[in-house]
Amino acid sequence: MKFIDLDKTVSYTGLLELAGKKIDLKTLLTPERVEKCSVPAGGGLAYNWAAKWVDENVLEALEKLSGEMELIAKYRALLSGEVMNTGEGRMVLHHLLRGQLEKDVIHQGKNIGEFYRKELARFAAFADKVRSGEIVPAPGKRYTAVCQIGIGGSDLGPRALALALENWAAVEGKKTLRAEFISNVDPDDASRLASLLPLSETLFILVSKSGTTQETLTNELFIKDKLARAGLDPAKHMAAVTSETSPLANNPGYLDSFYFDDFIGGRYSSSSGVGGVILSLAFGSDVFKEFLAGAHEADKLALEPSIVKNAALLDALIGVWERNFLNLPYTAILPYSQALSRFPAHLQQLDMESNGKRVNRDGKPVAYSTGPVVFGEPGTNGQHSFYQLLHQGTDCVPLQFVGFLESQRGDDISVDGSGSQTKLKANLAAQITAFALGKEDANGNKHFPGGRPSSLLYGKRLTPQTLGALLAHFENKVMFQGFIWNVNSFDQEGVQLGKVLARKILKKQSSGSGDPVLDAYGSLLGI
Ligand code: F6P
Repeated sequence: MKFIDLDKTVSYTGLLELAGKKIDLKTLLTPERVEKCSVPAGGGLAYNWAAKWVDENVLEALEKLSGEMELIAKYRALLSGEVMNTGEGRMVLHHLLRGQLEKDVIHQGKNIGEFYRKELARFAAFADKVRSGEIVPAPGKRYTAVCQIGIGGSDLGPRALALALENWAAVEGKKTLRAEFISNVDPDDASRLASLLPLSETLFILVSKSGTTQETLTNELFIKDKLARAGLDPAKHMAAVTSETSPLANNPGYLDSFYFDDFIGGRYSSSSGVGGVILSLAFGSDVFKEFLAGAHEADKLALEPSIVKNAALLDALIGVWERNFLNLPYTAILPYSQALSRFPAHLQQLDMESNGKRVNRDGKPVAYSTGPVVFGEPGTNGQHSFYQLLHQGTDCVPLQFVGFLESQRGDDISVDGSGSQTKLKANLAAQITAFALGKEDANGNKHFPGGRPSSLLYGKRLTPQTLGALLAHFENKVMFQGFIWNVNSFDQEGVQLGKVLARKILKKQSSGSGDPVLDAYGSLLGI
């Protein structure tokens, strides 16, 4: 297996040549193509690429690139425990949290899959006991709320998932505990939740893989202080999720502690206890297991070598086509589902922290663009906000739509002859068509150029399985793109410098940090 930079591949030149031949989306996009260009993505989801600037020639060239870069072999190597996080010298094993696809991964005599399964069983049993009232905060009391304290990967994915399942769980008759999140070191975040939550009935879950994150440790003390002031024992109101090597491990000050390891990156950790503890507490461990099953199904589909049968791989390759050959530097994530309102925020971290790299996996600068800028909002809200730029602005932004045939709650009203869910879907169909085909108008201000590419991930209804597949689809897409750009998608050195400078200025409040510019901004902000 060879790791090579994208511009050193034979396929690169072929793709550059193809990019010179303009593909007209307006003639390419036919009703037959809309019907034909769909591939299963797992959990009942399908990926449709009809409205992408991709014809048979481009597909063929992308297939060649996939073969030349040995993308499936690299994925298999990652699953087998090869050190893919080269910067930190670590294996990358988040797929193993949802099921095993390759041989056992043994590290220093320890079967890692067994460890993950054991932790899953431990936190599932813990959640079941909390939900059944076997574990209580005090005699005669029950936990009615759970609140996660964490940031980055210890917040964004789990928060997006909890929101995504809230409505589904309510109508499926699942007993739910209220799920909240504290992430920002802004004291208003913790203070607001401490004032809103019934503290005597709340179980806080402290989540930090490293156990050293400033924001999270500060918020833990903030909440412990509030609990103590309310006359409550913090040890009865706090559980922890961390790595076995973290300073938080084996602390008797928590009701219980659950573990994962350094082979699970923060932004890839939603399938571990990081997402699993709060989702199991809030909705039930069975629901979390359904979510894992959906993710596992998507992981299996991602092993398919033919690119038109592999949704994550195709999505990744089309993204690279747009980024490196059509020179489009952005991607918008547009879920037509309010339940996915925080999903774009999760994908911002997943994609940009993974592939926002300027050196390859050997630390050498690359001579081509890597990860795009990712942003998004749920439709139709986005339509009333930034879609103006997307339709008529000077930049062409590739779009990733997500939509469902049915709403989660099924509660609807007919107005002007159609229900709200139908209106939502009508808007989605309208936007894809408007972006692709545009509209001629002699008045330049009213002219829509069209030719703006989009894809659609769609399914019947957003369920735990579908959600698992959706999460894994994007994780696998990002992984394949990282392989293509030959970067390490599993470290994040770019977040360190700011942390160091913040610590520096906090330590030297009276005498100055020794960095005049830092001190000048410090004075401006009253530090
Ligand atoms: O600062 C970035 C980061 O390291 C993320 O990669 C990670 O998800 C987040 O901080 C939180 O880290 P931890 O779980 O160790 O507190």
